[in-house]
This record gives sequence, C-alpha cells and structure tokens, in this order.
Amino acid sequence: MIVASVLTKRYGERVAVDRVSFTVRPGRVTGFLGPNGAGKSTTMRMIIGLDRPTEGSVTVDGIRYLDCPAPLRAVGALLEARALHPGRTAWAHLRWMAASNGIPASRVDEVLGLVGLEAVAGQRVGRFSLGMGQRLGIAAALLGDPPVVVLDEPVNGLDPEGIRWVRTLARDLAAEGRTVLVSSHLMAEMALTADHLVVIGRGRVLADLPTADFIAEHAASYVRVRTPQPGELAELLRRSGADVTREGDELRVQGVDAAATGELAAGAGLVLHELGLVRSSLEDAFMTLTAGSVEFAAARPAEVTR
Ligand SMILES: Nc1ncnc2c1ncn2[C@@H]1O[C@H](COP(=O)(O)OP(=O)(O)OP(=O)(O)O)[C@@H](O)[C@H]1O
Ligand SMILES: [Mg+2]
Repeated sequence: MIVASVLTKRYGERVAVDRVSFTVRPGRVTGFLGPNGAGKSTTMRMIIGLDRPTEGSVTVDGIRYLDCPAPLRAVGALLEARALHPGRTAWAHLRWMAASNGIPASRVDEVLGLVGLEAVAGQRVGRFSLGMGQRLGIAAALLGDPPVVVLDEPVNGLDPEGIRWVRTLARDLAAEGRTVLVSSHLMAEMALTADHLVVIGRGRVLADLPTADFIAEHAASYVRVRTPQPGELAELLRRSGADVTREGDELRVQGVDAAATGELAAGAGLVLHELGLVRSSLEDAFMTLTAGSVEFAAARPAEVTR
C-alpha cells in the first residue's frame, strides 16, 4: 500500500505537487492520470525516494522508501528518465542492479524472459529501441519480486502489442495481490487498465474514484434525432418520460432509447432525417475534468482532436 499525505513538492516558486493525499491499495491497478506537467513523475519520484518532499510524506507499506533495507525488494519502479549505461548489455545492467540488492543472478534470466528480452540479453542497451528500453525498465522494476510496483508512463513508445502486454502485466501483478500504480496521460488506456483512478492536474488531486464510477458519471450518452417536426416529436417524447432539449430541427433525448424514439415517431407518422446514439468519450470527460489545469494547451485543441 502506498499512502501519500499532504505531499508537496516545490521547485523554487513553482509548486509541482500541491498537498496531494491518496492511498494506493493492493490487489488492484490504480491509474495515476493527468495532463503533461500535472506532477505525476514528481509524485512517483517522491514515492521511491528520488525526490524529497517539501512538505508532507509518502510511505510504502508503512515505511519511507529511504528506510527500506533492500529497496528493490520493496518497490519496483519504472521511471520516465532511466539512467542506463549505454555500453552495458541488458543482462549486465540487470545483474548489476540485482547484485546491489542481494538478488540472485537466476532472477535476471527470469525477468528477461518475463518481458520477452531473452534473445537480446547480450546486446548493448545503447542500441535498444524505445520499446525495448521500456521492457528493460519493466524487467528492472520486477527484479526484486516487489509487492509494490510503480510504473511511470510504461506504454510510452510501445506498439499496440506492447501496450496490450503492459496492460495484461499490470492486471496480472495486481491479481497476485500487489499494489500497482501506473501513470498515464491517456484516459482511454487507463479505462482499460485501471480499477481505480487518481486524477491530478497542476499538482492537485482532482478526482479519486473507481474507474467504473468515472465511466458511469462521465461517459454520458444521448439519442440524437433530426426531424422536420421537432415540436411534435419533442412533445411525444416528453409524454413518454424523456428529457428532451431542442436545437433547430435537432432533438437530444435522454431517458428513451433510439429504438423507442423511432417507434414513437413511426406511430405518430412523423418523419425522421436522422436517428442515432451519441456517446461522449472518456477522453472528452477527462479533458473537461482537467480543463482548468492543463499547462501546455495548444492554441485551439478542439480543432486538432476532431
Ligand atoms: N527538477 C525540476 N525542477 C524544476 N521544476 C520541475 C522539476 N521537475 C518537475 N518540475 C516541474 O514540476 C511540474 C510537474 O512535473 P512532472 O514531470 O511531475 O509532471 P508529469 O505529470 O509527470 O508530466 P508529463 O505527463 O509531461 O510526464 C512541471 O511544471 C515541471 O515543469
Ligand atoms: Mg511525467
């Protein structure tokens, strides 16, 4: 379990993490979600003791990371910027890490197999592709067979197969009872991976809730109908208990589904020009939630994403 308590990090005037409190529980994947610059990496660095909190604290299974006798056995972490010695082979890199934590060499082969890098174990990591580097980072995180795993943007640079592999791995680790914290700025990916979400923006917690609740709350849908007789159809729908808003010849209907809407119209001999279900995406919901806290917004993001 990871417990952050009014965790704060300031760099000079800049508040990167602002009184953040949350609990990451074992047995499920917790998604740490936020736009660029939200403070995800800074928070994760504080979890594993690479950055010292300005105020507040964070503990892993009740103790501060720096107080862990064999840290790799307590928390496995994949961080954004990995410090790799480019001339070392993948095997040597992991062997060196293992040795410093009293982990047997046999475990190196095990984790290389786990991440699918056994064939390139003898290659220098300087020549690794981004995806291979991510896999090596994950291998390093799993080296100590840790009960707590922290992965910062693990799917960055991975192809679709790799993304699916990370998703399955995170879920498997959680199913084994481990505490798994995975950061991302992609809502859609997190919706598939995480059981629980902690959403941050500009260093503050904006939401902390089960993924299912986020989806239920935000992925609203409505029936869109276009008809030359909007007034009549709206009246009919309202009498059937629907919530209807009208804009010109278009009605937005909630509470009555598309099939029932079509049947009501047919029954009254009303003409339809269009009938369909419109779902607002989770990505839209995430954008709305974090709208006030995006640091590096493009001038007109709406036009880019459509
Ligand atoms: N060493 C540092 N010195 C000064 N400012 C920093 C430092 N590290 C991070 N920051 C600032 O803290 C804020 C949070 O950065 P952080 O890297 O934690 O965000 P993030 O959520 O990981 O973003 P991204 O999605 O881009 O990885 C940013 O405004 C960043 O500029
Ligand atoms: Mg980051």
